[in-house]
Amino acid sequence: MDNYNVQRDEADGPQNWLPVSITEPLEDGQATEVMIKERVIAVFRHEGRLFAMDGMCAHQGGPVAEGHVEHGCVTCPWHGWQYELKTGIQTINRQPLQETFQIREHDGVIEVLI
Ligand code: FES
Repeated sequence: MDNYNVQRDEADGPQNWLPVSITEPLEDGQATEVMIKERVIAVFRHEGRLFAMDGMCAHQGGPVAEGHVEHGCVTCPWHGWQYELKTGIQTINRQPLQETFQIREHDGVIEVLI
């Protein structure tokens, strides 16, 4: 997992905390899709915690934010690949196929480290 993140940093340059632009509060159990740095990012609030991951499924680009979320995992609506929200690990082959991002909230503003 650590090596995966190092490779991502080198490829994308320095990271910054950038705000998630959403018009309505993200309630628990909800997800949304946003564009940050020209990337589609899926943002989830699940069981009181925020998560952010690549919004395009590693399989064939499906809309991960539209997937079913349960027990800390999201299931892509297109073909059912499932990823851990926290790590992006695909639950069948246990590989970190879906990139995840640190996420935080302060005074109602959600920010992603990207
Ligand atoms: S595109 Fe997500 S499972 Fe196929």
